[in-house]
Amino acid sequence: MDYTTKIANTTFDHLFINAAGVYCQTAEQLDQIQEAEAVAAVMTKSATAELRLGNQEPRYAAFPDQHNTINSMGLPNLGLDYYLNYVLKSHLKRPTIFSVVGLSQTEIVANLKKLQASNYTGLAELNLSCPNVPGEPQIAYDFQTTDEILKQVFAFYDKPLGIKLPPYFDLAHFDQIAKILNRYPLAYVNSINSVGNGLVIDPKTDKVVMRPKDGFGGLGGAQIKATALANVRALRLRLRPEIKMIGTGGVTCGRDVFDHLLCGADLVSVGSQLAIEGPTVFARLEKELEAIFTEKQITSLDQVCGKLKIF
Ligand code: DHB
Repeated sequence: MDYTTKIANTTFDHLFINAAGVYCQTAEQLDQIQEAEAVAAVMTKSATAELRLGNQEPRYAAFPDQHNTINSMGLPNLGLDYYLNYVLKSHLKRPTIFSVVGLSQTEIVANLKKLQASNYTGLAELNLSCPNVPGEPQIAYDFQTTDEILKQVFAFYDKPLGIKLPPYFDLAHFDQIAKILNRYPLAYVNSINSVGNGLVIDPKTDKVVMRPKDGFGGLGGAQIKATALANVRALRLRLRPEIKMIGTGGVTCGRDVFDHLLCGADLVSVGSQLAIEGPTVFARLEKELEAIFTEKQITSLDQVCGKLKIF
């Protein structure tokens, strides 16, 4: 199967990327993703201006039998310069996507100004959807602020930029956010981030499983697949066709990838299952997807992407 896909100036040979935040905090981890089979691109950990230690541990729990996770990492990262240094290395095997975040509008703008002024010409992704910084709301749930940030950013940023969104749950919200996003020259939309603020209780101790925010945190894994598909589908139907889509959420097997493609994803990113299984997950997913293509006699991605059937 020919998996060649293009977003802005970047050509990808496969479908899979690591979800921002998973397996991408250090150069060693980023190198391991680069080296893995079936990888389209390497996503760096969402960077703040300065190094952050993130929230107190325990801040992540996985339930591998159910392919579910909860996290409250709090943006631990080595700082913007560290990741900039990484993506500017000349010997990288795969394309990169530079994930940027900020704890304020001022910091977001300052971080993107730094990226604009740098020699980096690849894709960047603005994360407006981290659910785990105590006291900070998820920006993209505030439509007016999202609009203001994009307006401010696109006044100076002229390299390819995508955006990472939180899940929406109301069809009216899909209309509202798409209307805003369609006004800007976004390269792509990545949907969804973890489902903000679930709560998991350990039945042995009757206690929450994470320390930060009294146990509240972002859900991932199979439990969020239907929400992810709804978001990819709803946004694909509403966004300008030039805005590409990365589908994220609930991918644990080839069929999940196939479903994201049907809903309109151009690339698919893997978070929880990458954390559980490690970087060999991508080759397994590609193999399982190929088996589905063979069974259905599908010979090109065009036959699948966005081709979800309805009654
Ligand atoms: C974190 C969690 C997320 O779900 C995300 O998209 C970005 C950051 C975090 O807590 O570090």
